[in-house]
Amino acid sequence: MSKKLFIETLGCAMNVRDSEHMIAELNVHEGYELTTDAREADLIMINTCSVREKPVHKLFSELGVFNRLKKEGAKIGVCGCTASHLGKEIIKKAPFVNFVLGARNVSKIADVVHKDKAVEIDIDYDESQFAFKDFRSSGHKAYINISIGCDKQCTFCIVPKTRGEEISIPADLIIAEAAKAALKGVKEIFLLGQNVNNYGRRFSGEHDKINFTELLRRISAVEGVERIRFTSPHPLHMDDEFIEEFAKNPKICKSMHMPLQSGSSEILKAMKRGYTKEWFLNRVEKLRAMVPDVSISTDIIVAFPGESDEDFEHTMDVMRRVRFEQVFSFKYSPRPLTEAEHFTNAIDSEIGSDRLNILQAYADSVLDDLKLTHLGKVMEVYFEELRSDGYVAGRSDNNIMVKVKGSEEHLGKIAKVKITEVSRMVQYGEILA
Ligand code: SAH
Ligand code: F3S
Repeated sequence: MSKKLFIETLGCAMNVRDSEHMIAELNVHEGYELTTDAREADLIMINTCSVREKPVHKLFSELGVFNRLKKEGAKIGVCGCTASHLGKEIIKKAPFVNFVLGARNVSKIADVVHKDKAVEIDIDYDESQFAFKDFRSSGHKAYINISIGCDKQCTFCIVPKTRGEEISIPADLIIAEAAKAALKGVKEIFLLGQNVNNYGRRFSGEHDKINFTELLRRISAVEGVERIRFTSPHPLHMDDEFIEEFAKNPKICKSMHMPLQSGSSEILKAMKRGYTKEWFLNRVEKLRAMVPDVSISTDIIVAFPGESDEDFEHTMDVMRRVRFEQVFSFKYSPRPLTEAEHFTNAIDSEIGSDRLNILQAYADSVLDDLKLTHLGKVMEVYFEELRSDGYVAGRSDNNIMVKVKGSEEHLGKIAKVKITEVSRMVQYGEILA
């Protein structure tokens, strides 16, 4: 009988891809098969996120639950960014944990699983050229990492301390992965990195030094690839060449994530984001001028240390000018190993909550307006998911979730859909013959 693996993945898309890599390595080298029932697993893993404090708190209570329900002899492993950050502390606090594997040490999984109490969290470890075995949870969309780590030092962010310095993955490996996925019928390639448009700044070893724009061109030339998405680009590196390629390349989906973080140039400086409010607005303007249909999403942090009412008003001003299609907003959460952790001008938590409420209410009102403009429109939708309620779901080119009545036969197909009913998060429609 094969061994069973249960894995819970928290956090960002990069963690999702790291989990796929670990699943593949454990399957090929160790014979593990996936299970969705932790009670029957021989190995239980949590792939953690450390970007905000809440999920970190939850980790230990969750580990306790897994320890109680696991079958006898089953192992427990903690991976991801909290593994990198807390390392052996995890085993100290939860001695039943068998191994701790950092976010930059994913390729060691088949080895680590044999070593009791192993802690592998080296953030200088270079796995940018590791040839991972193949596993994808979707047959329609392929996540592909294009870099590891992050070379920015945003003062609020723990990621450079958990994923290490940025190294680009050689273009030929990325292209080969895209080609392999396309051969299996995957139409959409989703490129991942903390800073995708900084691609090519540093490789380990001698490699074709191409930038992100050139990488996009090469991927769009891969046979079978029909759609390209990526996350996250950094507003600082959104040069004209990149925006022009985004606009004119028909394979690049017309949705752009532009993590603003704050609309105040003062706060952006304190965050060390490297751009101003004016630069951000200028990039949005250029983008909208070239791609009128583009949908723009963002990440915003409110109540960063020192954020005055006026600073917050600048953020709201950008919200009103840009009218983002999607806003991921967070109250600032002080993180260890970051510069901002030592800032003394913290904002009262209640003020933070109020600002978050104001911002989210505005974001929702924009969504409510925008959804009405979708009614009656025809969108090209790539169907990826069969829902239990008799619907198939997919995304339009500009990232709008669309559901139609349908079945398995629609999966993996791109079809024209007329939108007949709208709600805040999902639009419903009918496939045009
Ligand atoms: N490289 C990515 C960021 C990864 S972290 C990017 O530039 O988009 C994802 C998001 O979490 C960030 O964009 C930020 O909005 C949020 N975040 C990061 N650190 C945070 C903190 N200390 N408190 C609150 N939100 C934070
Ligand atoms: Fe974090 Fe800034 Fe990098 S948000 S992941 S340090 S771009």
